[in-house]
Amino acid sequence: MKVETLRWFNNRLEMIDQRILPAAFEYLSYDSAASVAEGIRSMVVRGAPAIGVAAAYGVALEALRLSQHLPPGRGKDGMGVDFENDSTPSLTLPLQGGGDVDFKEGMEEGFKVLAASRPTAVNLFWALQRMRKVWESVAAQSPQQTAQRLLAEAHEILAEDIRINKAMGAHGAALLKDGARVLTHCNAGALATAGWGTALGVFRSAVEAGKKISVIADETRPFLQGARLTAWEMVQENIPVTLITDNMAGHLMAQGEVDAVVVGTDRVAANGDVANKIGTYMVAVLARRHNIPFYVACPLSTIDLSIATGKDIPIEERSVEEVKGFRDCHWAAEGVKIRNPAFDVTPAELVTGLITEKGVILQPDAQGIRKLFG
Ligand code: MRU
Repeated sequence: MKVETLRWFNNRLEMIDQRILPAAFEYLSYDSAASVAEGIRSMVVRGAPAIGVAAAYGVALEALRLSQHLPPGRGKDGMGVDFENDSTPSLTLPLQGGGDVDFKEGMEEGFKVLAASRPTAVNLFWALQRMRKVWESVAAQSPQQTAQRLLAEAHEILAEDIRINKAMGAHGAALLKDGARVLTHCNAGALATAGWGTALGVFRSAVEAGKKISVIADETRPFLQGARLTAWEMVQENIPVTLITDNMAGHLMAQGEVDAVVVGTDRVAANGDVANKIGTYMVAVLARRHNIPFYVACPLSTIDLSIATGKDIPIEERSVEEVKGFRDCHWAAEGVKIRNPAFDVTPAELVTGLITEKGVILQPDAQGIRKLFG
């Protein structure tokens, strides 16, 4: 089954609601920057490249909406949030009365609301910057022409993401031996991208190349991207997968049951430090202890040359509710202090190789990364 995480349908962006997978498979529809920003913030769409693609469509949708003088944020998301009546201050666009919308001001507000949706994945800012450049390049054109140009760019970013994932997949697949048992953390699959995936793209490409690999999926507390999304994707494709809780990884490594680790990333600093889903650092330390190669699948759009080391990567702190329990079931003691950092940083020295669309950089460092960008 081909997973279309985001798709353009009836002049709207549709995104799979990843909060309810695997229990239900449902698309939600988006028609403005504010509604897409809310989709990103609330994790309908997640995963660095997918967030970038969604943001690009958010910009295009805002241009379409403003050029047609439509009110902002029509439609509901699957959890019953009515954007029309949503009073969240940072996510509402100023309605500029009676269809008399100032296109430039409205667009700036759209960029702002999208940039504020999530802080860690650099692909969001990368995509917004790319869309801004396109917008500036057509400044002399009408809002309608600008909107069409921005929409074409969003379509291109989506198609390009799949092409890049396949190129990364081919480079990464060559690193895995036939029969390899590969551990992954979080979900860096088709659901985290426009399709194919980064880490899971490496597994798909290895299988396509005729290798018999099997995947060990960390559950990935607290949002369970591993148990819910990676396990679902692998089961859909008949790629052998075994689910473990995060604290079982060390035991399996010690037993000699893991041959390699491949994960995705949300932002890589100029020196090769890697921010990824919370728990990745722990896996990298364990992999080094057991002499297991630790690879990071990383499109160039995830490398942030403006950040010297991982220390400067902003780490999102999410709601304590995610750690406390699930919906109405709370297992944490009432009154306990809770932390919920959503990402951690793995120092470059623990990374065996960065798998990019341009090839694999072994033992990544500032020099190797600079070379990648020519
Ligand atoms: O909080 P999430 O689900 O957006 O975090 C996603 C991850 O950390 C992924 O591992 C990362 O974005 C790589 S996705 C190709």
